[in-house]
Amino acid sequence: MKNSYQLSNKNIVLGITGGIAAYKAADIVSKLKKEGAQIKVVMTKNALNFINPLTLETLSGNPVYYDTFEHRLNAWEIDHISLAKWADVMLIAPATANIISKARCGIADDLLSTTIMATTSKVIFAPAMNTNMLHNPIVQSNIAYLKDLGYEFISSESGILACGDFGDGKLAKVDDIVKYVKDFFLRTTDMSNMNVLVTAGPTREYIDPVRYISNPSSGKMGYSIAQVCAERGATVDLVSGPTHITPPTGVNLYRVETAREMYDKVMELFPRAQIVFKSAAVGDYGVENKAKHKLKKTKDTMELKLKKNPDILKELGNQKTNQILVGFAAETRDIEEYALKKLQEKNLDFIFVNDVSREDAGFERDTNAGILFTREGDRVELPVQTKRELACRIVDEVLKRI
Ligand code: C5P
Repeated sequence: MKNSYQLSNKNIVLGITGGIAAYKAADIVSKLKKEGAQIKVVMTKNALNFINPLTLETLSGNPVYYDTFEHRLNAWEIDHISLAKWADVMLIAPATANIISKARCGIADDLLSTTIMATTSKVIFAPAMNTNMLHNPIVQSNIAYLKDLGYEFISSESGILACGDFGDGKLAKVDDIVKYVKDFFLRTTDMSNMNVLVTAGPTREYIDPVRYISNPSSGKMGYSIAQVCAERGATVDLVSGPTHITPPTGVNLYRVETAREMYDKVMELFPRAQIVFKSAAVGDYGVENKAKHKLKKTKDTMELKLKKNPDILKELGNQKTNQILVGFAAETRDIEEYALKKLQEKNLDFIFVNDVSREDAGFERDTNAGILFTREGDRVELPVQTKRELACRIVDEVLKRI
């Protein structure tokens, strides 16, 4: 059979930790190598008890690294830094509860954990452990936390485990792990010629210089979308209302406060965009007469007169030529009906709607769920998942159709 060499010129650091599934790492190395990848293996001390480094050294054609104090790359460099820089991706397979939990806490006490901390490349974990360990809430919370930061996980499988128990925690199939890595590299370039405009967060409508009307949007959904698009190679303009979260790296960030400021910035950037993800929670009304100075509490009652803000997305819908518009709708009732109405009225290509009255979805939460509707009438139900996972799904679904 002809080899496609899909991974040629790709540098993969394979981290092997101390679980019985470590023996499968030999097959992972062999299969990645057959796809053309260059592989450097880093083993933890415990992994050495399960598989001989000589096997991995022979299969990878490179020295195996397992001792922080033994410099084997370049005498003047330090292994974890050189490996961290060399890697296009780090794959940790099998990944024990220990390495996952160490990564979550930023513990860097051996070569593998220091390399994970030092790399700026994607780190993908393929967990393998006893079912009860996997389902331990501590491990689950560590996985969720890392996922939210952009670390990826290849789900383990169900089956008979080495300890005799039956359940989740079996290392994913080697072929599935190899496929995941191949798909990862496809994914990192599939938006490389695209300009994407994302809006995120709330807007503020000032009553006086120190008081404003706003909403609890955290910006997490939009920031995740911006991050996912940037990781896939897109040039991303992120127009953000005030947030307290760390902005994604590798995007052009424009901070705004009011709906009017957001309108101006979005209109300026729109002509160069191919896809717009309009996930900001824009205030529908602004204050008609903003007080120049701080208002004093002289009267028992006070009336505010509000006036409608420009509907940015609707304006984009009017102006669009060949841009793809993805709207977001937060609803508390009749969510499908409202979503479809907005899709049509704002001339959108997609709308993602979520029910913000749910406990596990919407404003300020780390997780979200909802339905993506397309102009063509497709309806994609997206169950509860982290906002980052959801961002990946939404971007996937949009790209698939354009
Ligand atoms: O009509 P509604 O506000 O529910 O629509 C939500 C969608 O419209 C979101 O994508 C939001 O970013 C966008 N929107 C906007 N300008 C507004 C209000 C909403 O762009 N003034």
